[in-house]
This record gives sequence, C-alpha cells and structure tokens, in this order.
Amino acid sequence: METNNALYVIRSEIDWLSEVIDQVIRSYLMQEGHERNWKDIAVPDISEENDAYSQTVHEWGLSKYDRLALALAMAPSIRPEVLDIFFGRNQLYDRGFTEFGGITDTHHSGFIPTGQTLIFLMAATEPELRYEAMKVLSQDHLLYKEQVLVLSQTDDHIPNQNGALTISERWLSYFLTGIKPKIEQTISFPAQKISTNLEWKDVVLDEVVMDHLQEINSWLDHGDTLMGEWGLDRMIKPGYRALFYGPPGTGKTLTATLLGKSSGRDVYRVDLSMIVSKYIGETEKNLAKVFDVAQHRKWILFFDEADALFGKRTIANSSNDRHANQQTSYLLQRIEDFPGVVILASNLKANMDDAFTRRFQAMIHFTMPGPEDRYQLWSNAFSGTCQLSQDIDLWSIAENYELAGGSIINVLRYCALSAVHRGDHIVQYDELIKGIRQEFKKENRTVSVTK
Ligand SMILES: Nc1ncnc2c1ncn2[C@@H]1O[C@H](COP(=O)(O)OP(=O)(O)OP(=O)(O)O)[C@@H](O)[C@H]1O
Ligand SMILES: [Mg+2]
Repeated sequence: METNNALYVIRSEIDWLSEVIDQVIRSYLMQEGHERNWKDIAVPDISEENDAYSQTVHEWGLSKYDRLALALAMAPSIRPEVLDIFFGRNQLYDRGFTEFGGITDTHHSGFIPTGQTLIFLMAATEPELRYEAMKVLSQDHLLYKEQVLVLSQTDDHIPNQNGALTISERWLSYFLTGIKPKIEQTISFPAQKISTNLEWKDVVLDEVVMDHLQEINSWLDHGDTLMGEWGLDRMIKPGYRALFYGPPGTGKTLTATLLGKSSGRDVYRVDLSMIVSKYIGETEKNLAKVFDVAQHRKWILFFDEADALFGKRTIANSSNDRHANQQTSYLLQRIEDFPGVVILASNLKANMDDAFTRRFQAMIHFTMPGPEDRYQLWSNAFSGTCQLSQDIDLWSIAENYELAGGSIINVLRYCALSAVHRGDHIVQYDELIKGIRQEFKKENRTVSVTK
C-alpha cells in the first residue's frame, strides 16, 4: 500500500504540473482560456498522506512553489512527455522559445528543465513572482542544502539559472520507495561516516595532547556562541582547523571520532590519497558536495592521509599535474573557508610549507607512547574476557617493546584468536611474543626477545 501510495502521490503532483504548464503557456501566448491564473489550479491535497514525499512536504513546510520545482525536476524521470510541450516552436523566429529554458541531452530525447523553466512557469504572467522563483532556486534553500535538487553549474559566461534543474537519484528513490540511501552510499560522495565504541576513558594520550583536544571540544561546544553572541565573527575567520600528525596507530582517527561522539556530531572521513591523484574531472564537484552537506549538518570533516596536500606543488609538466595542482588549491581554499571543524591527519609534518601551517588553529603531535602509556594500553587491551597468563610481566613487556596503541590492538586480536582456537581465553607468553613479533615484522623492525 505504501509504495503504491507514493507512486500515486507523485503521479498526482506531475498531473498538477502538467496542468500548470498547459495553463501558463495558454496565458503567455494569449490562447483560449488565457484568463485563468495557474495558481488557481488546486495543488493535490496530500495532507492525509504519509508516504516519504508527503512527509517531506509536511515536515519542511514546503510551499506550492517548492512543490512545483520538485515536480518539474522529477518529471523527466517519471513522465517526460509532460514537458514535450516546451518543444513548441516560436513562429516569429522559427526556433524554440528562449524563455522556456531547458536543455536536451544525448542520453535523453526529452526536455530537461532548467532553472529558467521554473522561472518561466512562475513568473511568465506575473513578473513579481520572479523573486519567489529565484528564492526557490537559491543555494540557501533547504532543497539544495539537503541536496534534493541540483541546479547544475554553468560556464562563467552563462547565467546560473540556465543550469539543468534535476532531482538527486537518492531523494527520488526515497520518494518512490520510502527508503533513503545514506548519502555516503552514493558513488559520487567521497566521504564515509566513522564512529567508535570506545570512550575518552579508554584513550591514553599525554597531557599536552589532551589540552589541545580540550580546546577543540570547547570550540565544538561554544564556537557558535563566540561567533554569534560575542560577535567574534567580525574579527576571526569562522571554523576551526586542526592538524593531527604522528606515526601510524597513535590514535589520530580514534581521537577525531571521539571528538564527534562527545559533541554529538557526525564525523566524516575523506581519504585524500584517493582524491588528489586519481579521480580527475568530477572530483571538485564531489568534494563540493561534501563541504556543502557538512556545513549544513555540522559534521566534523576528517581528512586522512593529508600528506597528499602538503607536498610542494609540483611543477606542472602534464595536464594531469596541472589538474592535481588545481585540485589541491581548491581543497585548501575550501578547508580554509569551512565554518565548521576540520581535522587533517598525517604521518609526517615535514615538508609542509609555512603558508600552510599558519592556517591551523592547532597542530597536535601524536607521539609514540612511552613505557607507562604502553603499560596502560596493554592493561586496557587485556582487561576483558581475553586475559594474560599470570606469569606474564606486563611492565617488562611495556618497557621492552615500543609499540603504538594500534599495534597493541592488533596483538590483542592475534592472541584472542590463538587462545579461542585452543578453547581458552587466557593468553600464554609465547603467543603474546609471537603476536608482538608479527607487528614488528609489519613495520620492518626486528625484535630481540628477552624473558
Ligand atoms: N592513544 C591511544 N589510546 C587508546 N587506544 C589507542 C590509542 N592509539 C591507538 N589506539 C587503538 O588503536 C586503534 C587504531 O588507532 P587509530 O586508527 O586512531 O590510529 P591512527 O593514528 O589514526 O593511525 P594511522 O596513521 O595509521 O591512520 C584505535 O582504534 C585504538 O583501539
Ligand atoms: Mg588513522
């Protein structure tokens, strides 16, 4: 019933659109019946419906104009023929009517509406409504912020409103099926949500690092107040940018996720090594999406493998290099302008130029843990069901082997598997050492074992 209902509701929106188009063209061309105003055509009554589309309309308080924009954007997917009327020729010039807007595409034989098409429908006979139409098309409108509608970018010399007005696949499928794919599940979205089951109490970090983190936490809690009520927005750049640097497995990703968890914000990770070098062409557009949604939803953006950005800009030898350089500049600019919290993570701080580091509010060094911190990490790791045999001296293990938290967790995994395989949950000394050895081997380090 529900999905059928959804289709029924959307069809009735398109029917309404079709009537509106017919009326506007009549009025505009002074054809028979031109006296009627399109706004007098009743909008379908969906107040009792509870499919995804109707719910969105209710919850967001969408107006008649918003619904017209949605119906127009959905039409090419649902019933493209209702737009064919726009192909009518202007007999005066023997060409299409410029005022209808719209574009055609090699993959779609029908009419694809543009922002101009919406402006035409709303304002053709009532120029005052042009302003309302521009509001519906503005990037500040909820429909764009939530990325339901997309108004494609146009070349610089072409007015914005000539961009194609389309509905995102994701929202269309939500309206039709009631199931909303997560934004990161769309192929073109280069970020994933990250989360953790751990808490601050599980984290072992030195005080200097904790102090810095406290500052970021305060920003997350009070940044809006400072920028708003305190009026600091006149003096300082919005947003907070932090660089986490240090060896693998020292807790950079974990810390970023915890900052999100404790402030009730989602943390999204973008892997820069994938972006800067590989995807060429669409990247900028896709990254723009990440920044736009992140700003609207107050996500924390976590850029991993940020080294990709620091490398001295290469001298552009090929068009690929040029493109990578452009991409880097674009990213840096977006990061600098982002009004929320951005965290960049890297294994090295070297070869970062000053111009770059000056843009950070915090540079946090995640060092390799010392013996005491390692002892703490070992104890935490083996404090659950998986325990260490009584005869193991954890202090000397902590002292002898310089391992980061991430490696210790890997040793835990190895030992737990080994113990459970024996039908036990107590880890023996030899197993532990074997696990440690494996970690050293991964990092191409050798280890001398002393008991
Ligand atoms: N300081 C720490 N305190 C507690 N646990 C830690 C710490 N560092 C690492 N761990 C453990 O190791 C796991 C991996 O750490 P994490 O992914 O945060 O490292 P990273 O610094 O991001 O490494 P990389 O540079 O390889 O991305 C964490 O999920 C956590 O279980
Ligand atoms: Mg990491």
